[in-house]
Amino acid sequence: MNNEFYIHGQVALITGGNVGIGRITAIELAKKGFKVVIAGRSLERTQPVLNHINSLAVDEQAIFLPLDLASFASVRECARLFLQLNLPLHLLVNNAGVAGLRGLTKDGFEMTFGVNHLGHFLLTQLLLEKMQSSGLSRIVTVSSRAHKRAASIDWDALCRPTSSWTGIREYAVSKLANLLFSAELAKRLQGTSVSTYSLHPGVVDTEIWRSVPDWVRPLLRLRGFLTPEEGALTTLHCAMHAPQQESGLYYADSKPIQPAELGRNSELATALWERSKVWVNKA
Ligand SMILES: NC(=O)c1ccc[n+]([C@@H]2O[C@H](COP(=O)([O-])OP(=O)(O)OC[C@H]3O[C@@H](n4cnc5c(N)ncnc54)[C@H](OP(=O)(O)O)[C@@H]3O)[C@@H](O)[C@H]2O)c1
Repeated sequence: MNNEFYIHGQVALITGGNVGIGRITAIELAKKGFKVVIAGRSLERTQPVLNHINSLAVDEQAIFLPLDLASFASVRECARLFLQLNLPLHLLVNNAGVAGLRGLTKDGFEMTFGVNHLGHFLLTQLLLEKMQSSGLSRIVTVSSRAHKRAASIDWDALCRPTSSWTGIREYAVSKLANLLFSAELAKRLQGTSVSTYSLHPGVVDTEIWRSVPDWVRPLLRLRGFLTPEEGALTTLHCAMHAPQQESGLYYADSKPIQPAELGRNSELATALWERSKVWVNKA
């Protein structure tokens, strides 16, 4: 049975591919024959991954593009640089994320929401036309089961600095936003060549927890951590194997699963989309 939705030589752009789940995702995609473009904050910190990929004797050299998701100007510049490469785009992996980081983005949005959702929302908008003209393509957004902790979306709070002590409340809202964004995008892309998936990677031993207070970390460890290799499996499944007709679904353990009730709220998804559109265009 051929259930693979990629062809050797296709192009993948992945955010935050220098460490953690993103690093493994980038390496595994390169091994499968993708030309990998890693967008991130530091070439210096990404260089070891680029070297690793380029030492695999892959046909296509990996490329780095600067991207700070906490700045719309940087997101716009990253998309502009990508488009300037004159490559098609078959796979966008919205992977980068922060947890427990406090404050505001450069454009005045709550930091975790701004990086995890708004930056990716804008990047996706800017690359969508390119994806639509690249034939069959897909967008994979790394959410989290932490979305279940979000009790609602307080729109005003998204325009203020992080208020919870641990930042976990804001993280939950940002991951709910990832999930709603992917579902709404699928609705808007129905009948096109672009499909979209969101996912929970598992609880993975990465640097994501570096900013949460010290006392929270042992609590996270209670259930045991997956390795980054294990944590990348569902992203890779969505990138290469998930059926197109499952566009818009939320995955865990490489299978579609039901999100929490708020994650299935299509009115909330549309409201988030409309606000995100205004916010990224205003700033
Ligand atoms: N680890 C888990 O247990 C877990 C569970 C559920 C969901 N997730 C999700 O999985 C995804 C990957 O996280 P991870 O666990 O692999 O964490 P990680 O090791 O901390 O990697 C996060 C990546 O995001 C990048 N990043 C952070 N802020 C950025 C910004 N402003 N602009 C551009 N890139 C930025 C980081 O780059 P720098 O090196 O420059 O900081 C890094 O490459 C995230 O979306 C996370 O929410 C993780």
